[in-house]
Amino acid sequence: MDPAVLDLMLAGLPRVTDANVLLGFSHKDDAAVYRLPSGEQIVQTVDFFTPVVDDPFDYGQIAAANSLSDIYAMNARPLFALNIACFPKSQPPELWREVLRGGAAKAAEAGIAIVGGHTVDDTEPKYGLVVTGIVEPGRVWANEGARAGDTLILTKRIGTGLLTTLLKDGAVTEAQLADAVASMKELNRVAAAVLARFDVHACTDITGFGLLGHAGELCAASGVGMRFRASQVPLFPLARTLAVSRKFPGGTKVNRLYLGDRVTAAADVDEGLLWLLFDAQTSGGLLASLSPAQAEAALAALQEAGVEAAAIVGEVTESAGILVEA
Ligand code: CO
Ligand code: CO
Repeated sequence: MDPAVLDLMLAGLPRVTDANVLLGFSHKDDAAVYRLPSGEQIVQTVDFFTPVVDDPFDYGQIAAANSLSDIYAMNARPLFALNIACFPKSQPPELWREVLRGGAAKAAEAGIAIVGGHTVDDTEPKYGLVVTGIVEPGRVWANEGARAGDTLILTKRIGTGLLTTLLKDGAVTEAQLADAVASMKELNRVAAAVLARFDVHACTDITGFGLLGHAGELCAASGVGMRFRASQVPLFPLARTLAVSRKFPGGTKVNRLYLGDRVTAAADVDEGLLWLLFDAQTSGGLLASLSPAQAEAALAALQEAGVEAAAIVGEVTESAGILVEA
């Protein structure tokens, strides 16, 4: 949703005073971290959204991968999940069985079971998961912790907001989006497991607020700024080509408006490319901030593990604000 509206909604809520809540929404982290009486720490997140592709099995997989992503973005391991679904009465149950099958398949790939859930009738369909995970105490990756001088690594291509909007408009076919659909279905599990071998200072996953929006959350929580090299950001080729159409989803436009003067783009940055950096993503990659001494080795390890889109996209700066260079 609109990040400005979200700020207004959250502003009225009571402060969390439970000392066992180690991470809540004060820094807009991907998931909450809670310390159990045993001392173990669990991580919990919920995410659901309207269909982004026509194929119901693909949609179920994408929604589940997206929900699991917040667990991986915090260096946690998923334990189990619950379905959360809004299904229109007018649509056949067989269709929604495919969605749920997609979710279950992705959960199985993540090594967990979906153990229950909740459904309601709704004219606008929505599906996703509540996921509970576990994290080693002291090893949580949060939005806080990025340090000036850190290198930024992004693990998936950008452009799914634009592409899925063009699909809804009938301007492209699902077959043309095969690489984007495969990317949205891909778990961030391998990327997180590889990054865990390195000294990650902060991490988040790129979803609705776009690359620059989620980067902005890391900046705010860590008290730093960032510099991105637009030409280094991995993109879906079709998104790059069709960025000139400016058929971006509403969320992308809202992201750009919300970030406003916190983002400065050099004069030679292509406008279509700049829009893509604000593009609202579905089930995007991880954005990790890590020591520059380890960045090349981490990138090589990611690519070796099959995270082929991974790229160094910029660095953390001392001065506040986000600078985008060509
Ligand atoms: Co997230
Ligand atoms: Co989320």
